[in-house]
Amino acid sequence: MNSNDGRKIKLADLRNQVVGIDTTIPLLDGSKRRYVFLDNAASTPTFRSVLKCIEEFLPWYSGVHRGMGFKAVVATNVYDQTHRIAGEFVGADLQRNVVLFGKNTTESVNLLARRFNFATDDVVISTMMEHHSNDLPWRKYCKVIHVGIMEDGGVDLSVLKSELQKHKGKVKLVAVSGASNVTGICNPIHEIAEWAHEVGAKIFVDAAQLAPHRPIDVLSNDDPRHIDFLAYSAHKIYAPFGIGVLVGPIEFFAKGDPDFVGGGTVSYVGLDDVEWASPPQKDEAGSPNVVGAVALAEALTILNAVGMETITEHETQLLEYAISRMKNLPGIRIYGPTENLGRKVGVIPFTVGGMDHALVATILSMEGGIGVRNGNFCAQVYMRKLLNVSPEEEKMKRAARCDNPILPGMVRASFGCYNNEEDVDMFIEMLDRIVRKQFRGTYAIDPITGMYSMNGYTVDASAHFRFFDPHKPTTTGEEVA
Ligand code: ALA
Repeated sequence: MNSNDGRKIKLADLRNQVVGIDTTIPLLDGSKRRYVFLDNAASTPTFRSVLKCIEEFLPWYSGVHRGMGFKAVVATNVYDQTHRIAGEFVGADLQRNVVLFGKNTTESVNLLARRFNFATDDVVISTMMEHHSNDLPWRKYCKVIHVGIMEDGGVDLSVLKSELQKHKGKVKLVAVSGASNVTGICNPIHEIAEWAHEVGAKIFVDAAQLAPHRPIDVLSNDDPRHIDFLAYSAHKIYAPFGIGVLVGPIEFFAKGDPDFVGGGTVSYVGLDDVEWASPPQKDEAGSPNVVGAVALAEALTILNAVGMETITEHETQLLEYAISRMKNLPGIRIYGPTENLGRKVGVIPFTVGGMDHALVATILSMEGGIGVRNGNFCAQVYMRKLLNVSPEEEKMKRAARCDNPILPGMVRASFGCYNNEEDVDMFIEMLDRIVRKQFRGTYAIDPITGMYSMNGYTVDASAHFRFFDPHKPTTTGEEVA
């Protein structure tokens, strides 16, 4: 298994590789339409070759690192190679760094936060841009300083730099996203790394939103611009089978006790003492998700075969096209940069004047067949900054109800490498109808859930997948009126 196994794949051919690209769904008027998926920042579909690779691997499936059976040896070797591929994808020197697999980026950040062994007065410098998963885990163990946001939605880098100097000696880590899941803004991670290293701190990059869209090189461990720790999720990079990747120095993970202990984490267990296994086994307790790892490795191999630079170029063009068309629609407000779009990945957060974000997302889905996300995208602090929500308003909303749908929020369209201009055109066409109030349904909000329905209609999932009712055929459902 190789992350650059000689395959060359044209970007244009990748679209046909996407599982579910031609799925049709019913609309409110009874017609059917190809589903346009613009929620890739939440989770991506997978590629056919990933499914094929899993199928090819499954006859060899076995527990790993646990036996001399032929299949166990093959599966162990494959599983070890998947670590290499996941590390090489971000340029890690695997003589000095290790790849740990967990289930997603959130789990990786939690593991890292616990393994850092912070003193309670240690400082982590983070930002107001972060996803909750790159904020709350640090808060549990030490003091977190959240660097503020500028007018354009970007991190105030001069403040970040001065906070580092101010807390020199106490600051152990800078924890920053590679790209925001709300605005798509990319942070200058190598510059920040250099500033962190100057004061003896390390850097952690949450690359969940960066890895699928930009080539990443963590650089040599000796480089002042080196990224010490980095995490990303398979489910956001075309392998939604439950793997999270954490890359960091072997010597860091060789020290201390693992967080989860049990099978696979040890080399010796006596009644009174334990010797931990070497990384990564030490921090991968229990039987690992070998199939998920194989899926991730194949997805990364596919992306390498297309070329991450090619993907970046394509997604930037798509972003430019979409934003230029959205700018022509009255009442649309886009948050974050709308110029010089090379500085952000393909994520567009927006509101439609006077309309609830959940209503816009519902109409896009029910009348346009467009899947987007709405709400606050697990980044409430950033969301309130961008929306300029006053503390009074915030208090009022909290008192009313804490559920996300009722909190202030936005609609978010986000691209994957396989989306094309036709997808954008279908999105714009429906958005145009929405801003002109030319949608057909009469929508009502459920005040408890914050979800909208049209004349009581809700999606009947059982018409589309058998797990809901094994006796029902898996049709695409004609019952929508
Ligand atoms: N973090 C993911 C998102 O932004 C789930 O949607």
